[in-house]
Amino acid sequence: MPGARILILDDDPIVRTSCRKVLGEERYQIEDADGVEKALELFRNSHFDIVLTDLKLPDGTGIDFLRIIKEEKPDTEVILITGYGTVSTAVQAMKFGAYDYVEKPFRPEELSLLVERALERRVLREENRRLKKAIEGHYIKNIVSASPAMEKIFRMIATVAPTNSTVLITGESGTGKELVAKAIHYNSPRRDKPFVVVDCGSIPTELLESELFGYRKGAFTGATGDRKGLIEEADSGTLFLDEIGNMPLHLQAKILRVLQERELRPLGGKKVRKVDIRVIAATNADLQGMVREGSFREDLYYRINIFPIHIPPLRERREDIPVLADHFLRKYSSEMEREVEGFSIEAMSMLVHHRWPGNVRELENVIQRAILLAEGRRIEPSDLAFLSTDREIRIPRDVEELKMIKRKIREQSVAEIEKNFILAALTENDWNVTRAARSVGMLRPNFHALMKKYSISRRQ
Ligand SMILES: Nc1ncnc2c1ncn2[C@@H]1O[C@H](COP(=O)(O)OP(=O)(O)OP(=O)(O)O)[C@@H](O)[C@H]1O
Ligand SMILES: [Mg+2]
Repeated sequence: MPGARILILDDDPIVRTSCRKVLGEERYQIEDADGVEKALELFRNSHFDIVLTDLKLPDGTGIDFLRIIKEEKPDTEVILITGYGTVSTAVQAMKFGAYDYVEKPFRPEELSLLVERALERRVLREENRRLKKAIEGHYIKNIVSASPAMEKIFRMIATVAPTNSTVLITGESGTGKELVAKAIHYNSPRRDKPFVVVDCGSIPTELLESELFGYRKGAFTGATGDRKGLIEEADSGTLFLDEIGNMPLHLQAKILRVLQERELRPLGGKKVRKVDIRVIAATNADLQGMVREGSFREDLYYRINIFPIHIPPLRERREDIPVLADHFLRKYSSEMEREVEGFSIEAMSMLVHHRWPGNVRELENVIQRAILLAEGRRIEPSDLAFLSTDREIRIPRDVEELKMIKRKIREQSVAEIEKNFILAALTENDWNVTRAARSVGMLRPNFHALMKKYSISRRQ
């Protein structure tokens, strides 16, 4: 973002000058202030993309300033400059919406990298907002994201929604395929007409045909009257064929005909009926592979693969994890009437580094369970202890089960959790201690102390 505006608040003139030097006057427009009062005046009378602020100032604190900023112009990204003894305050301040903090004395490239990242986040947020506005519909607001990958998907939704085009949504289980399908429908001219979901994966094969096509009285034993099928229910609206990879071959042929002719014949019926439907299909299977194997019709594949949307797994868009986690925390803590307000930095790092084989659905379940387990106002690593072991996360059914889980987790030693956490961070960062510590939001000395405590060294 060339020409971005930055405000520096620090009472130490050396810090102000060195920040200016490091960031470069030719790249940014920089203003500075030596006290909260002057900074406030500058802040209110002009526009800044980024504010860098010290914590202790002669006429107030950086935290006070941060709170005002987040109240008045919440899009401004704030980076805290911390000195010895104020790091824990800075960590707390992240809760009030600070982007990050740097410790004095900082390396020049550390500061400029941080500023660049904060600017990127700002641009991304604005871009997301613009895209969401372009597709005003109700459903798009349900898709929470902060990643460029999802931004691309918003753009695709905006492009395809107004058309009648068939859409194929692919992605692993739990990535949000149904959410995207709904967003397309509710942003299309068909939004006031039905959105009919056919789950080809869970309807037994024998039933699927009659469910889809409906039947006439006497079509088979038990058909005591006429019944409309789901395809007709979707008339003038959208038919969502979920898990289309599970559709048996003989039905694939029949569906292909519906797609080509826009007409169908109910079981036992003589007359064909015209239908006006838009089709969205979804699958977590590799349809192309299935075509090669012969378990999916090639002609049907080409018929539905007109506008493909691929949703990447959560582990390939980790920027989405914190915003999704916050979203679910807010949603479920109010639903469950629990006062859990946020995550400790270590807990958030665990979430960000997990592999998420079950994607967003797994994250949603993990947060629900963590809210139940949390003893305080914040989710701590111990509330997420089940993350590393369980594949299937289950929400406890009742208080008894909850108690049992809590007991089990307490028994599992905190030490083991901590040790694994440190090891994972190190492995992911090629055993570079500084980077590993940073990646989990810890200070190097603290991180190193834990390594020593658990006798972790390179030759393990
Ligand atoms: N970006 C997102 N923002 C908010 N919630 C999301 C997002 N992505 C997924 N979810 C939530 O995660 C859960 C799973 O999403 P959805 O059912 O759309 O996934 P799916 O890809 O259809 O999964 P499956 O293959 O298991 O059917 C839902 O509760 C959905 O609301
Ligand atoms: Mg689904």
